[in-house]
Amino acid sequence: MKNIAIFASGGGSNAQKIMEHFENSNNAQVSLIISNKSKAGVIEKAAHQKIPTLILNREEFYKTEDILQKLDTHGIDFLVLAGFLWLVPQYLVKAYKNRIVNIHPALLPKYGGKGMYGINVHRAVHAAKEKESGPTIHFVNEHYDEGGIIFQAKCSIHPTDSPEDIAKKVLALEHRYYAEVIEKVILKIDSK
Ligand code: GAR
Repeated sequence: MKNIAIFASGGGSNAQKIMEHFENSNNAQVSLIISNKSKAGVIEKAAHQKIPTLILNREEFYKTEDILQKLDTHGIDFLVLAGFLWLVPQYLVKAYKNRIVNIHPALLPKYGGKGMYGINVHRAVHAAKEKESGPTIHFVNEHYDEGGIIFQAKCSIHPTDSPEDIAKKVLALEHRYYAEVIEKVILKIDSK
């Protein structure tokens, strides 16, 4: 049984889906929820599921490697970013090489990079009059949105769709696929 830690900064709808999915898995379980915001929706959701939580402090995250010890304490094998907006520091990428995945709400390599998150992404897609969009699931490296792509799903965009409409379509695909793809990746890794 592999142990997953989810990093999330926001509402945590993806984190919720992932927690639900792995409640019924024999391969992995969500063992820790990490956020940079103590009031993030995801913290409440974790408490509800009785999953331990950890609040990140920026100084500590970037200037020390203390988190590695904490991940070890919980036996964490795999890291999942779900709406986590901080750049993952190099020491963490190195310690969890090919064991960190992220979901981005656009078809990378387009519409990625610093500042490209949430509704900003959908506004850019809308402004460019794209005919389709969709989430990208990718490995995480030390640059925003640049690790190897694992999976993409597409939805069509109608000329009348607003950025909010696009966001809804893309989020529905995230909820449909993220946990399933995570489980497939986890099945290919060895124990840490
Ligand atoms: C998701 O749409 C995710 O793709 C996006 O934030 C949202 C989080 O929603 N991530 C990024 O934009 C990362 N660059 P959630 O908190 O409800 O899961």
